[in-house]
Amino acid sequence: MFCDMEGFTALSEKLGPEEAYSIMDQVYEILIHKVHDYEGTVNEMTGDGIMALFGAPIALEDAPQRAIRSAIAIHREMFKFSDTMKQERGGMTSLKMRIGIHTGPVVVGTLGNNLRVEFKAVGDTVNLASRIEGIADPGTTYVTEETFKLTEGLFRFEALGDFKVKGKDEAVKTYRVIAPSTRRTRFDVSAERGLTPFLGRERELELLLDGFERSRAGRGQAFSIMAEAGVGKSRLLYEFRKAIANEDVTFLEGKCLSYSRGVAYHPVIDILKANFDIRDGDGDTEIREKVKKGLKILGADEASTLPYFLEILSVKDSGIDKIPMSPEARKERIIEALNRIVLKGSEIRPLIMAIEDLHWIDKSSEESFKSLLESIPGAKVLLLFTYRPEFVHTWGAKSYHSQITLNRLSNRESIMMVSHLLDTEELDSALEEFILEKTEGIPFFIEELIKSLKELKIIVREGKRYRIAKDIKEVTIPSTIQDVIMARVDSLAEGVKGLLQTVSAVGREFSYYLIKRITNSAEQELLSQLSVLKDSELLYERGIYPESTYIFKHALTQEVAYNGLLLKRRKDIHEEIGEAIEALYPDRLEEHYELLAYHYVRSANTEKAVEYLELANQKAIKVHAMEEAKTHFDEAMELLDTLPDTEVNRQRRVSLLANQVPVFRALFKVPEYYELLTRYEPMASGLDYPELLGAFYVGLGYCEFSFGSFDQAIQTLSKAAELAEASGNAEEAGHAYAELEWNHVYRGNFDRVLSLKEEVLRKMEQRFNPRWYVRALSVASRACSHLGRWDEAVEEAQKALSVAEEFSDNSLISHAAWTLSMAYTWRGDLRQGIEYGELAVQKAPTPLDKALAQRGLGWAWCRAGEPKRGIELLTALLPIIRAGRYMPSEIPHTCNLGEGYWLAGENNKAKQMLEEGVKITERCGARYYLGWAQRLLGEIALKANPSQAAHHFEKSIAVFQEIKAENELAMAYAGYGRYHKKEGRIAQAQEYLTKALEIFERLGTLIEPDKVRKGLAELPKG
Ligand SMILES: Nc1ncnc2c1ncn2[C@@H]1O[C@H](COP(=O)(O)OP(=O)(O)OP(=O)(O)O)[C@@H](O)[C@H]1O
Ligand SMILES: [Mg+2]
Repeated sequence: MFCDMEGFTALSEKLGPEEAYSIMDQVYEILIHKVHDYEGTVNEMTGDGIMALFGAPIALEDAPQRAIRSAIAIHREMFKFSDTMKQERGGMTSLKMRIGIHTGPVVVGTLGNNLRVEFKAVGDTVNLASRIEGIADPGTTYVTEETFKLTEGLFRFEALGDFKVKGKDEAVKTYRVIAPSTRRTRFDVSAERGLTPFLGRERELELLLDGFERSRAGRGQAFSIMAEAGVGKSRLLYEFRKAIANEDVTFLEGKCLSYSRGVAYHPVIDILKANFDIRDGDGDTEIREKVKKGLKILGADEASTLPYFLEILSVKDSGIDKIPMSPEARKERIIEALNRIVLKGSEIRPLIMAIEDLHWIDKSSEESFKSLLESIPGAKVLLLFTYRPEFVHTWGAKSYHSQITLNRLSNRESIMMVSHLLDTEELDSALEEFILEKTEGIPFFIEELIKSLKELKIIVREGKRYRIAKDIKEVTIPSTIQDVIMARVDSLAEGVKGLLQTVSAVGREFSYYLIKRITNSAEQELLSQLSVLKDSELLYERGIYPESTYIFKHALTQEVAYNGLLLKRRKDIHEEIGEAIEALYPDRLEEHYELLAYHYVRSANTEKAVEYLELANQKAIKVHAMEEAKTHFDEAMELLDTLPDTEVNRQRRVSLLANQVPVFRALFKVPEYYELLTRYEPMASGLDYPELLGAFYVGLGYCEFSFGSFDQAIQTLSKAAELAEASGNAEEAGHAYAELEWNHVYRGNFDRVLSLKEEVLRKMEQRFNPRWYVRALSVASRACSHLGRWDEAVEEAQKALSVAEEFSDNSLISHAAWTLSMAYTWRGDLRQGIEYGELAVQKAPTPLDKALAQRGLGWAWCRAGEPKRGIELLTALLPIIRAGRYMPSEIPHTCNLGEGYWLAGENNKAKQMLEEGVKITERCGARYYLGWAQRLLGEIALKANPSQAAHHFEKSIAVFQEIKAENELAMAYAGYGRYHKKEGRIAQAQEYLTKALEIFERLGTLIEPDKVRKGLAELPKG
C-alpha cells in the first residue's frame, strides 16, 4: 500500500516548513497507527507519505482485506484531522491522502518476526502499487485487479477500467474502493454468491439439534466446534441456523476477525449490535435510544447495564466515568451486564449465541464468554463457539459443554464436491487425483483450487466433461490457500519457522539424523523445536528417537513453507542437504543418487548436480527404469549447457550421450537420440578419446539401424568396433559386434551373424555385459531360425534366457523369452510359441520390450488358429512402432500382420499390408522379409488372380535361395507347387511339392510336411 499526501508542497509554502513538518508529524502518527491496527508494517517513509506492507515479511491471512480496511481508516482519520485543523487554523485546505494498493509477491531483505525490523521490499508488486497510488484521486483508494479479486464481496468497488502505467506494457485494470460491504468474512461472501451443496456432517448437525432441544427445555448447552481453516465450521453453523429457521428463537452472532485481536470486546459488540438492532451509520443518540428501549423490553435494570454497553459501543458520554471504580471492577461490571441481558433475553424466548473464530478473540471478549458459559446451565441458552486448533479454550470440563471436531472430507465426499462445482459427474481420473492430492479434503481448498483451475484455463469444458488443457503440474497453489497456510507457518517462533522451512526443502519426509546434520543445532534445541512442530500438528513423528523420521502432516504445508523460502536460501539449503546425505551415507551413496541429484540440481552446485544426474541415469538404466533414466539425462544435458566449455565437460557430455542407447531404444525415441548425436558428432570427434568415440558411434550406428539404413549402420558400427578394439574397450567392442549382427540378420547375411556372435562371446570373456551377451545370442537364434536350424535356434535362445534369469533382469528375460517364442513358432511348435510369448509380455518392463513381445505373441496366435485375436494385438501396436520410426520392428510387424489377415481370410487387407511390406523391405534391403512378403502375395494371388502368383513366388524363391533361408524356401516351393497344380501342370506341381517336403523333413519343421503330403496325395496320378 502506498499512501501519499496531496498538496504537501503547497501546504509548506503556505505555512512555512516548520509548521508543515509539525502537521506532517501528526499525519504520520495517523498513518502508522492505522496501518498497525491491521497488523501491517510501515516499510518506508516517503517524505509526504508511507509505503506499508500487509502480509510481509510476516504472512497474514486476509492481507489484501486488511490493507483496504487500513486505507479506509486512514481516510476517515484524515478527514477528522483535517476538520480539526481547519477549525484551529482557518483558511487551510483539506488534507487528503491518495492511496494505491496492489497484491503480489514481494522480495524482502531481512526477515524477522519483529514488526520493527529493518527490511527493504522491492520488485514489480511494489512498483505497481506506487504507480496506482499516483493515479488515485485525493481522498480515494485505488486497487489493482489482483487486490480486487481477493477482496471482491467484502467491499463495494467502482471499476475504473484500464490505465496505462509507466513501466508496464499491458494496461492495468483498476478499481476504486467505495465502502465496506455488510459482509465481513470469506464465508459471508461465498454464502452471498451461492454455496456448494452441503455434504455429509449429518452426525454433527444432529448433535447441535439435540443440544438445541435440551437448551430449549431449560438445560443450557454449549458446543465448541473445532476444525482447521476451511473445513466447514462456518458452514455447519449456517446449516444449523437454516435447520431451525422456523423456530421461535433469538439468534445472536458474534465474530472475531483476523485483524480484531487488538480490538477489545469485538465479538461482544457484534452481539450487542445484533441484540439492540444497531445498524452501521446509527449516531450516538440513536444508539443510546435503541439500547434503552431494548433494556426496557428485557426488563433489565438500566443503571447496571446501560453505561457499560454504551461504553463498549463507543458512544460519547456513556456515563461510565461518573461511576468511580478500578479498571478491573469495570471489566467485571461489563461482563455481568452482558450475562444479565443474555439470561433475561432467554426468559422471553430461547436464545442461541454463536461466536465464530475464537482463535482471533481478544482477551476481554474471551473472559466475557467464559463467564457467560458458567452462568447458562439453568437457562434456555445455547452457546456455540467455533475455532481452529491453535486456540485452546480455558473453560474446563462441564457436563453441559461438548466438543465437536470436524474432520476433513473423505475422498468420496471431496469428489462429490468437485462434481458439484464442475457440474459434471464425469471426471478425468488424473484431474481427480490431482485435486485430492492438493486439497486433502478441505472444502475451502477444493473450491479455491477449482476456481483457479478454471480461471487460469487449466481445465476447459467440453460438452459434459472437463479437459485438462495445460500441464497440471504447473499449477501453483492459489494465493488464498497459500495465505491461510503461510499465516500459520509465520505465527511460529522464528527458530521453529526456520526449521520448518529448512526441512520443507528435504521433502515430505525426513530423518532425524539428516535434519540434525543440516541444521547443526544443539540436540536439545532441535528436539524442542521439533516438538513444537509436532504439537502444532504440522509434523508427525514415526519411529523411535533417534531413529525417528518426521513427516509433514499435509503436503500443502510443505509446499507452501518451501515456496516461502527465498531463492538464494533455497539453493543453500539444498546444497547443505546434499552434503549431509553424502556425509551420512558414505558407503551407501548409490542408494541415494537420485536424491543427491535432486538436491544438487536445486542448489548452486551444478558440477555435483551433473555428476549425480549421470550416476542416477546409469543406475536407472541398470534396472530398466528408462523413463527415469531419460529424465536424469535431459536434466544433465541442460545443466551441461550452463557449465564452461572445457575439455572435461565435453568429455562428460559425449560419454553421457554415448551411454543412452538402451534408453532411447526402449522408449521408442530413436529419432530424438539421432538428432542429439548428429548435433554433437563434431564435439565427439574433436575429442582425442577413441574409446569414447567408439561408444558414440555405436549409438549413431544403432540409430541408423533403427531407421532401416542397414548398410550405413554396418559401416558406422564397423568403425565403432575398430575404435573400441583399438582403445582396448572390450565391452564396447562387444556391443558394436552385437549391433552389427542385427544389421546382418536383416540383410540376410546369416553366416556373418553367426561369426559375429563368436566375436561377441570372445569379447564377453574379457569383459562380460549381460545385455550385449543376450542380444548377441538372441540374434544368433534368429539367424538359425531363418536358416531353418531349429534346434540351434532354440538352444541359443535358451542360453540367452538362462543368463537373463541368472541376472534377474526382466528386460533381458522378456527379450530372450520373446526370441524363444519366435523360434518355436517358426518351427511350428505353436503351444510353446504362445507360452513363451506370454512370458515375454508378462516380464516386459519397457515399451519396446512390450511391443516386441506382443508382436511375437500376436503372430503365434495367428498361426495357432486365432488370427482375429492376433490381428487385434498387432494392429494396436503398429502406430506405436511407426511413431518411433523403428524399422527393425516395422518390417517384421508388417509381414506378420499381413500373414494374420491372410490367415483370417481378409485378403484385401493382407494384400495391402504385404505390398507395403515389399516396399519397405526393398528400400531397406531386408531380404528375408522381402521373400516372406512376396511368398504371401503369391498365396493371395493364387486364390484371386493366379496369373500373378507365379511372379511373386519366383521372386520369393530367388531371394530365399540367395540367403539360404531354407524353411521359407520350402514354404515358397510348396506355394509354387500348388500354383502349378492350379494351372494344370502336374509334373511341376509334383516337383516343387516334393522339394518342399524334402526340406521340411530334413529340417524337422512341424505341421507343414503334413500339408505338403496332403497336397501331393491330391495330385491326379499319372
Ligand atoms: N460439508 C460441506 N459441504 C459442502 N461445502 C462445504 C462443506 N463444508 C464447507 N464447505 C464449503 O467450504 C468453504 C469453507 O467452509 P467454511 O468457511 O465453513 O470453513 P471454516 O471452517 O469456517 O474456515 P475458517 O476457519 O477459515 O473460518 C465454504 O465455501 C463452505 O461452503
Ligand atoms: Mg469460518
